[in-house]
Amino acid sequence: MSEKRFNNHIAHRYDELCSLDDPYEESYHDRIANEVIEIVNNESIDINRILELGSGTGPTTWRLVKAMECKGRQMEMIGFDISAEMLKINKRKIHHNKLQGQNIAYVIGSGTHLPFRSNSFSLILCVATLHHIPNPVQVIYEMARILIPDGKVYLDEHLDNILCKLLRNFSKLFGYYKRIVMSPHEHQFEGFKREMIASIFRRHFVMKHVFFRSLFGTSFVWLKNNELKRILFKLDTIVEKAILITCWFPKICLVLRKK
Ligand SMILES: C[S@@+](CC[C@H](N)C(=O)[O-])C[C@H]1O[C@@H](n2cnc3c(N)ncnc32)[C@H](O)[C@@H]1O
Repeated sequence: MSEKRFNNHIAHRYDELCSLDDPYEESYHDRIANEVIEIVNNESIDINRILELGSGTGPTTWRLVKAMECKGRQMEMIGFDISAEMLKINKRKIHHNKLQGQNIAYVIGSGTHLPFRSNSFSLILCVATLHHIPNPVQVIYEMARILIPDGKVYLDEHLDNILCKLLRNFSKLFGYYKRIVMSPHEHQFEGFKREMIASIFRRHFVMKHVFFRSLFGTSFVWLKNNELKRILFKLDTIVEKAILITCWFPKICLVLRKK
């Protein structure tokens, strides 16, 4: 099954499958929206047009649009995804949160061929999406093409490491795991190696900021028990402060500047 068909197929169960309404995911996406607002406020360039590549059912989209509205910022936001069904749900959340007056549009397509003019965006968000696309190098080329000089990418990605694998296998073994529904591409590839992500961006971007977070990466999103998830999330936030072990962190968030 192709990524497009797969994502259209799971769109209506996606929030439930990925526990997007549970406390861990809520705080995770709140945090992303806050970090993006900070970038928007602190950048020397005027950030007025944002592309969200792989916006999915919109856990980040509505939070960001709402935060912009609260701050009285005028901005054009474009939700972009390969799945029309995901975007329908995204749009519904904008209505549900009474944000339809804001400047937001939706475009269906693939990250490997972005249907936008060169030098036309000041910021691209890409949350938990790059590892779904079989040709990430082409996506990064496209990102660099459509960004204005000095434009930024906010990238949230999974890295795979031994700790992540251990938790995944241990939880599966003892039945603590929900049945995982992985997309066709994810089946072959569960996360980037750190060196790989650095090398594919190096050509067009300069690393501005790195947040390492989440000791167990996305592995614990799939745990059945919310209490256990909450404990792990707490542990994560504590450990995150110990820079000495950042090399273990399987969830990474980068802010990159176009060269
Ligand atoms: C794990 S979801 C993440 C969605 C959202 N960013 C979030 O944080 O919940 C990955 C998204 O990537 C989209 N996707 C997969 N392949 C894509 C492609 N080639 N181009 C654009 N979007 C794609 C999927 O439809 C899905 O909505």
